[in-house]
Amino acid sequence: MDIKALISKMSFREKVYQLLQLTSDFFSGSGDVDLTGPIQDFKIAPEDMKLIGSVLNTRSAEDLIAIQKKYIEQNPSGIPLIFMLNVVHGYRTVYPVNLGLACSFDTELVFECSKMAAKEAALEGCSVTFGPMVDIARDARWGRAMESSGEDPYLGAKIAEATVKGFEGDMGKYNLATCVKHFAAYGAAEAGMDYNTVDMSERTLREYFLPTYKAAVDAGARTLMTAFNIVDGIPAVANKHLLCDILRGEWGYKGLIISDFCAAKELMAHGVAEDHKAAAEMVMNAGLDMEMMSVAYINYLEELVAEGRVSLKQIDDAVYRVLKLKEECGLFESPYGHLDLDEAKAVILSEEHRAIARRAAEEGAVLLENDGILPLAESVESIALIGPHTDNGEIIGKWSCMGKPCDTVTVLEGMKKLYTGSRIECARGVFAAFDSKDESGIAEAVKIAERCDTVILTLGEEPDDSGEGRSKMYIDLPDVQYKLLDEIYKVNKNIIVLLFTGRPLSVVRLREKARAVLCAWWPGTEGGNAIANLISGRVSPSGKLAMTFPYSVGQCPIYYNHYNSGRPRPDDQRRYNYKCAYIDGPNSPLYSFGYGLSYTSFSYSEVKLSDTVLKKGGKITASVELTNTGNREGTETVQLYIRDLVGSVTRPVKELRGFERVTLGKDESKVVSFDIDEETLAFYGQDLQRRAEAGEFHIFIGGDSRVSSPAKFTLV
Ligand code: GLC
Repeated sequence: MDIKALISKMSFREKVYQLLQLTSDFFSGSGDVDLTGPIQDFKIAPEDMKLIGSVLNTRSAEDLIAIQKKYIEQNPSGIPLIFMLNVVHGYRTVYPVNLGLACSFDTELVFECSKMAAKEAALEGCSVTFGPMVDIARDARWGRAMESSGEDPYLGAKIAEATVKGFEGDMGKYNLATCVKHFAAYGAAEAGMDYNTVDMSERTLREYFLPTYKAAVDAGARTLMTAFNIVDGIPAVANKHLLCDILRGEWGYKGLIISDFCAAKELMAHGVAEDHKAAAEMVMNAGLDMEMMSVAYINYLEELVAEGRVSLKQIDDAVYRVLKLKEECGLFESPYGHLDLDEAKAVILSEEHRAIARRAAEEGAVLLENDGILPLAESVESIALIGPHTDNGEIIGKWSCMGKPCDTVTVLEGMKKLYTGSRIECARGVFAAFDSKDESGIAEAVKIAERCDTVILTLGEEPDDSGEGRSKMYIDLPDVQYKLLDEIYKVNKNIIVLLFTGRPLSVVRLREKARAVLCAWWPGTEGGNAIANLISGRVSPSGKLAMTFPYSVGQCPIYYNHYNSGRPRPDDQRRYNYKCAYIDGPNSPLYSFGYGLSYTSFSYSEVKLSDTVLKKGGKITASVELTNTGNREGTETVQLYIRDLVGSVTRPVKELRGFERVTLGKDESKVVSFDIDEETLAFYGQDLQRRAEAGEFHIFIGGDSRVSSPAKFTLV
């Protein structure tokens, strides 16, 4: 396809309309499209609909086919629409929300999940996914922590890379182009308030918040979505420093840049554009190619070109990137891309795909507490399954694309399928709504608990409590859920809690009465089977927290890779004055980054270094011997952290720089090694140049970020 020749034949009007993306209801009038932003009342003439560049959020393959069929017959240059969807944790076979999947620390699994989702979506005609979402999230009040890979840039970068490669593959029949989002630092919104101000130093931005986007770009992401928030006072969608200097300039990104939903128009609310025309000029001159659900370009680019404030070349370049993307997605060969409804039927929700989703739910779950009540023998006489998520297909979570609750294996179904010899009784007990005060179901639940051996409580958020626009100022369970726990505790002490949530929760009170707490996140289509496998011990929990669980919301934002301060905060509970500490609670979190229990136990030898001096240009190896000291097989994610004791700028008390999942049988041991070189130690100095600095370093290798007793070496 000679794209430049095609562009040369297009009218100006055709060009600017190619730079617009609208939701599918503008085409099919379906009306119930999954609007993820403010509803717009654009005045777009019906005859211009055939010129639009792209569609987001179609409701089904049939919807997509109908829209494209009508469109391709009318488009004057034979240019097809390109369809984009939020395929963020599965298409129809839904795997755990991304924060849950990140807790697997399993990049190969992330790749498999992405590949599966891409195949299902591509076969139903989708070309681009609005993912990976790679925003670093340090604040549990922020509802979109659910879609992130948590607080750590090293883990997040590895996951971003695996996701892009899983979706894009070789851009063949079963692949989707990706859209790395939301550029940049969207997760750093003040107070965990979605869309709120992001304000940080350039160094913090580069050190902690940009690496995940760069990893996705380096992995070949073909599109990128700008964030809603400001960065250093300028909205990301109009931020030349981000889009021109860093993204296009330093990183050499050549792909399409699309705005988030209506973000171009929001420049006026941000107070940086006096009107829509000024907004159009700002975003075009910052390098935005395509507007999602805002119409600054189609309304003002003609005037702006006539006034010399935007050049025709800028527009041609943007159109080139749109058409290039369509070509790479095979749309000029077939306007329906890789659509194949027959193969889709065979693939979607296939046992192979369900198995991937099940494995993801198993590996993403994090065992937070267990006094030995788990694993629960399959011979248990009776189980009381109580709670709002017991028989709830909504445990696929939000942002589950074409996922349907009716496809879900619920907790009840999964437990019944496995505990065939046990009597299982169930009751809702309470509702999950954070503001529910309804205690009317507790009495019946208590009666069931009283006559069963073991109680499994399915507690947590509502699925709709996490995700976009779901900021919360309280991140504990509602009192009514603790009331249920307390009342059941009076008649039965054998309580296991399953936690369903899209964010870390400050569930301190749970461990007073629950003998085990398993965080299942929103586990997806195979949630019930995965949970039954974990409860029974057929699978040993192996998840490790990708995001810190605060002791209290008052600690947010809280993250492991914090600086030491000049008055280091004591982690014990004593009251302190004149220290970097709270006087009314602990400084340490409820559960730390990297933490997670299993059904066995592991011991770590002391860290051995191949040398205590690392010369510039050289490398040393750090090793430990990991032993399974328990009485059954288990998987441990061994984590490597560094600490740079003295730098030209202050350095964090720990930084993750390596991890490896290791499965060992009873009494088995394995030596786990990590290479360390200058790249491992590099950081942005006062001059914003990234380099390692000579001096002393500590190396920690353990099962979570609380690991102590480091080995020491010097970089010379
Ligand atoms: C939303 C979200 C973005 C999503 C887009 C399309 O507002 O911020 O993540 O991909 O709109 O639905």
